[in-house]
Amino acid sequence: MQTLTISKPDDFHLHLRDGAAMANIINYSAAQFSRAIVMPNLNPPITTVDMAMSYYNRILNSVNKKYNFEPLMTLYLTDNTRPSEIDIVVQTEPIKALKYYPVGTTTNSDYGVTDIKKVYLVLESMMKNQLPLLIHGEVSDTDVNVFDREKVFIEKVLSPLVDDFCELKIVFEHISTKAAVDFVLNANSNIAATITPQHILLNRDDLFNESFQPHNYCLPVLKEEHDRLAVLGAATSGNPKFFLGTDSAPHGRTKKESGCGCAGIFSAYNALGDYAEIFEKQNKLDKLEPFTSFHGADFYGLKRNDEKITLTKKEKKIPEELPFDNDKLVPFRAGGNCAWQAKR
Ligand code: NCD
Ligand code: ZN
Repeated sequence: MQTLTISKPDDFHLHLRDGAAMANIINYSAAQFSRAIVMPNLNPPITTVDMAMSYYNRILNSVNKKYNFEPLMTLYLTDNTRPSEIDIVVQTEPIKALKYYPVGTTTNSDYGVTDIKKVYLVLESMMKNQLPLLIHGEVSDTDVNVFDREKVFIEKVLSPLVDDFCELKIVFEHISTKAAVDFVLNANSNIAATITPQHILLNRDDLFNESFQPHNYCLPVLKEEHDRLAVLGAATSGNPKFFLGTDSAPHGRTKKESGCGCAGIFSAYNALGDYAEIFEKQNKLDKLEPFTSFHGADFYGLKRNDEKITLTKKEKKIPEELPFDNDKLVPFRAGGNCAWQAKR
């Protein structure tokens, strides 16, 4: 049986939710990842250091202690975030970044930034303190075709932002298009990107196989095959600008299979297995560890993990559903098989 032992990875984009839902899912991540950048889009969102630290403590109370899992916290940037909050953030070890959701782009983004110019003073302070800005890179303008929202965001918002703040560390989250790959490749070394398993494995046809597939619906929405190939190429290239971020975003089955289905794919269940399968198919297993375990830590200025994890080429059956609060959760690739899995 083929095995591969690598430094334990980190997940640089993860939604853990809260309360009973968090308790149901957190150990899937903790088993595979040493650390995770935890997204702040709770309702209400995590907008202050105090809120982030009490969420941090709830996470530590929820996770199985045997894993030594370390949550890396983020604040949700709003029009009202004060530059003085950044002074407290930089003195608060567990908080590593701020997340910028353009208003109206995704789950719980109603409190998001209405115009990036409104937070320029905050960004200046972040730049000075080398605090990364994590970006949901889509416009919410309904005049823009949903498949073009990332590309238009690059043109209208991201390019001017990078011009104004060339020293600001930016993570372009869950990139989904060739346009995003090209933008990151051509940008300076302060710009990096996370890549999810779903944006490597699926294209927009996978939303409509035979019938509508709500469990493949996430934001940014899946794109065309040439976009998928560009994202796959970036992930497996060995370029340190690209690193692992699952964007695992659980929603209960009833919320996904409804007249108004929520965006989000729960990919944490066997995420490392998914990435290993992808890299092996490309004959790039040698590039897996840098992508999963080095590039992100290096970009964030974190120490690489000492702990190791062993991956096994052994078929893993993905369950049809998992417990999730008072609902059920349908994991990514439910009912299917993945060729690889992490030793639990
Ligand atoms: C995320 C969620 O559900 O919190 N959904 C998603 O489709 N990715 C929010 C986000 O990261 O956009
Ligand atoms: Zn997300």
